[in-house]
Amino acid sequence: MDIDGADATAAGARALDDEDPLASLQARFDLPDEWYLDGNSLGPASDESVAALEHVIEEWRTLGIRGWTEGNPPWFWYGERLGGRVADLVGANGGEVVVGNSTTVNIHTLIGTFLDLADGTKVVVNELDFPTDHYAIRSQLRARGLDPADHLVVVESDDGRTISEDDIREAMDSNVAILFFPSVLYRSGQLFDLETLTKIAHEYGAFAGFDLAHSVGAVPHDLHAFDVDFAVWCHYKYVNAGPGAVAGLYVNERHHGVTPALAGWWGHDKETQFEMSLEYTPAQSAGAWQIGTIPLFAAAPLDGALSVLEEVGMDAIREKSVALTEYLIALCDERLAQRGVRVGSPRAPAKRGGHVALEHGRAYALGDALRERGYIVDVRPPNVVRVCPSPLYIGFHDVWSFVDAMADILDSESLENSEKRGVT
Ligand SMILES: Cc1ncc(COP(=O)(O)O)c(C=O)c1O
Repeated sequence: MDIDGADATAAGARALDDEDPLASLQARFDLPDEWYLDGNSLGPASDESVAALEHVIEEWRTLGIRGWTEGNPPWFWYGERLGGRVADLVGANGGEVVVGNSTTVNIHTLIGTFLDLADGTKVVVNELDFPTDHYAIRSQLRARGLDPADHLVVVESDDGRTISEDDIREAMDSNVAILFFPSVLYRSGQLFDLETLTKIAHEYGAFAGFDLAHSVGAVPHDLHAFDVDFAVWCHYKYVNAGPGAVAGLYVNERHHGVTPALAGWWGHDKETQFEMSLEYTPAQSAGAWQIGTIPLFAAAPLDGALSVLEEVGMDAIREKSVALTEYLIALCDERLAQRGVRVGSPRAPAKRGGHVALEHGRAYALGDALRERGYIVDVRPPNVVRVCPSPLYIGFHDVWSFVDAMADILDSESLENSEKRGVT
């Protein structure tokens, strides 16, 4: 074990916390449990996000409908304004990002749009994707009379955990319309090189689109510089904007001006929206992919949540995230491997997102036992306990304590008891 000379003791963990420049941020979050290691599913509330929500509720009380134009800032431009700030997190120009809809809806409208723009008719995805991506893409193919059995090309995994770039390349041909991949696989945490995948897509004349749900707020991005065509993501994981928070999308500026597959009045050119023409004129920005009225109460917490990320900066966030996952993996090797736990995430930090997959034959029972002790993790089939040491509010001693609890559970009766309840 050698994380900057730290040893595997509790004192070693505390020493790392003492040197952590982000340690004081934890106090600004309301952590529902003592060890909240599920921020890759739902990030916690921060003082800033709650204050931003309360601010809009107060404006609703005092301004009513005038809030759309007289709110501070006006609600009418909320999606565009927040999009301009989120653009910094994903490496885009201001007009290339908007905050709107949900991730699934954004996959629908962007896959549909780029199928309409493409010469090819196939979409390349992978078998370890989050299911909603496939559901939405199949719907969009069917809506165009394209049988998903022939037009959804699913790259298979060699090891059940990761997808190789060689296999992605092999799946490509000149009839591919879109290569659509996650930045980070939701189960193993494999982080893809978006620049390389974009180049592969473009070599075959296809568009490159990405689902960044598991990386925005945890990993810096450079979407514009990499020439990515489009991307979608949510804000309720590492950005901590609350359950069901309004999602984000990016469309490279060279595609602005087209009519989105799912058009709605909130994506109409804002200058003339209230002329109420029955003809749709798209906004000349990513804003065109908004559909209906922005749900303010699902967007306002993002306003506050972003302040925390902006204050720290994505490079510092990623640096601590890598240090925490390295530390977690090193402790697992030292203390959990002999107890039957296998690290299912890539070992190279450059190939790993913000969470770590720990594999165990009794993952569900283990998850139950951990939660009973106040360690909040989640479990994904068939055998993965996902552990997310999110860098804004988790420290090294939290990680140490989690591994210590896991070792104790694996040595104790509680796992056997859980198993008898049939939750394996
Ligand atoms: C990779 C990925 N895509 C999409 C979604 C779901 O998106 P939505 O916010 O539409 O439910 C998730 C949810 O966890 C996800 O992990």
